[in-house]
Amino acid sequence: MHRLWINPSIGSSLLVIMLLVATPASAENMTQKVEQILALGADDAYGEYLAGECIACHSRTADASDSIPMIYGKPPETLTAMLLAFQMGARKNPTMQSVAEALNAAEIAALVFYLSKTEYVCGESTSSSAC
Ligand code: HEC
Repeated sequence: MHRLWINPSIGSSLLVIMLLVATPASAENMTQKVEQILALGADDAYGEYLAGECIACHSRTADASDSIPMIYGKPPETLTAMLLAFQMGARKNPTMQSVAEALNAAEIAALVFYLSKTEYVCGESTSSSAC
């Protein structure tokens, strides 16, 4: 029977890599990533198409009873930082982590510019602070 043998130098490099991956991104790093994504610019038609997936959960009608947060009309920087936080696992929510993980930088850019320009609608029973 073979025993698992790990070369000590490979073992320690692996440890370093694992620590690097596990270290949360710094705020500075986050700002840089947000800027890089926003620099890709708007593509509203593509953003509207991609947002078709989001609207299933994120209604455009703001309502007091809403448990899912409003994503329309928020600044693009805010939306990008939120999506990156889910993508990096800094903000934990299994649903949104899998939604965000599936998005590449160009898709995030298209989405956030479109969403930021799209106003929410106030519902009839709205006593939400958004309305
Ligand atoms: C299956 C349901 C579902 C879908 C689809 C979905 N979301 Fe979410 N989203 C949620 C839930 C639930 C939360 C609240 C998560 C939490 O509590 O942290 C959320 C939170 C968010 C937030 C944080 C908002 C805030 O104010 O804190 C953003 C941004 C967001 N979603 C963007 C999107 C985008 C963009 C899409 C489409 C690409 C999308 N979501 C698709 C369910 C969904």
